[in-house]
Amino acid sequence: MSSLTSSPAWRALDAHARTIPTLQQLFAADPARAERYVAQGAGVELDYTKQRVTDETLKLLLDLAKAVDLPDWIRCMFDGQAINGTENRAAMHVALRDLSGSPVMVGGKDVAPAVRSVLERMFAFAERVRSGAWKGAGGQRITDVVNIGIGGSDLGPRMVCDALASFVDGPRMHFVANVDGQPMADVFARLDPKTTLFIVTSKTFTTQETLANARAARAWIAKNCGEENVGKHFVAVSTNLAETEKFGIAKENVFEFWDWVGGRYSLWSAVGLSIIVAIGEQRFRELLAGAHAMDQHFRTTELQKNLPVLMGLLAVWNRSFLHCTSQVIAPYAQRLEKFVSWLQQLEMESNGKGVDREGKTVDYATTPVLWGDVGTNAQHAFFQMLHQGPDVHPVDFIAAVEADHPLKDQHRLLLANVLAQAAAFMQGRSAAEPHRVFTGNRPSSLLLIDRLEPRSLGALLALYEHRTYVQSVLWNINAFDQWGVELGKQIANDVLAAFAGDAAASNKLDASTRRLIARIKRPS
Ligand code: F6P
Repeated sequence: MSSLTSSPAWRALDAHARTIPTLQQLFAADPARAERYVAQGAGVELDYTKQRVTDETLKLLLDLAKAVDLPDWIRCMFDGQAINGTENRAAMHVALRDLSGSPVMVGGKDVAPAVRSVLERMFAFAERVRSGAWKGAGGQRITDVVNIGIGGSDLGPRMVCDALASFVDGPRMHFVANVDGQPMADVFARLDPKTTLFIVTSKTFTTQETLANARAARAWIAKNCGEENVGKHFVAVSTNLAETEKFGIAKENVFEFWDWVGGRYSLWSAVGLSIIVAIGEQRFRELLAGAHAMDQHFRTTELQKNLPVLMGLLAVWNRSFLHCTSQVIAPYAQRLEKFVSWLQQLEMESNGKGVDREGKTVDYATTPVLWGDVGTNAQHAFFQMLHQGPDVHPVDFIAAVEADHPLKDQHRLLLANVLAQAAAFMQGRSAAEPHRVFTGNRPSSLLLIDRLEPRSLGALLALYEHRTYVQSVLWNINAFDQWGVELGKQIANDVLAAFAGDAAASNKLDASTRRLIARIKRPS
């Protein structure tokens, strides 16, 4: 047994989980829980009344948080210490949204001036594009901007541009991620090269998909606008200035960020350039301010009222002690359709780990599978299983009190549905016929914001970032590396070489993969 699972705090929770009453019993015994298990911070309200917890559960979870030194780990993150142990790096995405003017130290250096200076350059560039001052070949203004990037260099800005679609007043925004050439071919078919600008976004600037798409885009521009005009249609976002230069993007058109910003935590950095082009400086500042407010809440609020801490504790309770294998996310907001994809990378790339911080194999489960879709669509798809399937999958519901459109009656319908679903999961229903029975006792939380706008979105995203970190601390794993993506990338190089007839590369591959290569190469 690891020192974590054999610790008194862990064992006490394990024993307690075996005696925890059902949600129906908890509500019958204590209706006042509806008032008690609610917490607020940075404009977000968390209602966790329908989680299968009691005051005793929360006390034991807080004991675990203290036993693993959670307050200290939070402090280490904000102090810019190298909490990403395998890469010896800080994880300082919080520095990107601290525009207070105070020094922000990373590894003994104040990074605030550099953060502000890149941000000012981004605002100036975005304004030139938005105002039409930036001209493409032929002297016309830019009508379409295409972000080329994948993973953290795609999911964050893509999701934010979608979520804040009501605030978009810049050029049309497009996102190309996949190495599948189809999305880029679609861009070529639909857009005018003379009025299209590409933002090549890659932390490393070595990512196969992004470079393949960027090369294709460059060739399209060179062919249609002339080689001499390529510079008018490309800017880059990266930490790797040597590679952006090799690609041929002029220094003044490169927006830098730093190795202490993880890819999946990067939308606040220059990776958010497409967001600024879409919504403008003021609204991007509000997005940062919302996230910063959540950072302050996380940093300073006592553990039992701290939203990311509470959500992290509940996630660990459901996963490690109630043994739920997945976590469903159901935003009741169409504009948050891409939220689940963003969160999947954030949580599963961060906490999908099998060794602890000391490199020892863990003897406990780590991240649950995250999945979901927007309500009410999801109700008509997979909610059947959530209500009546034998396994229990806790749900995070997300909703906004006010709508951002004039169809207010429909918004009332939407809210009625989210409350009804949470109630049904909790209370269930008995019936004479077995197929009509709902067992209930299925936990959920509800996150409420007033309106979906830049500030509340910033707070919501930062809340999930910090929840992810809290879980990693409780599980003693490193949330900020992603070695699990390496092996497939390496083998893809061998497969590519094998396709080209390289026998040595082919010999490195297994028999099944070699057969498939031969099958694909066979003329049809
Ligand atoms: O899939 C691994 C990964 O490194 C992610 O962590 C990252 O967001 C993505 O690839 C893209 O990387 P880059 O921004 O360096 O192109």
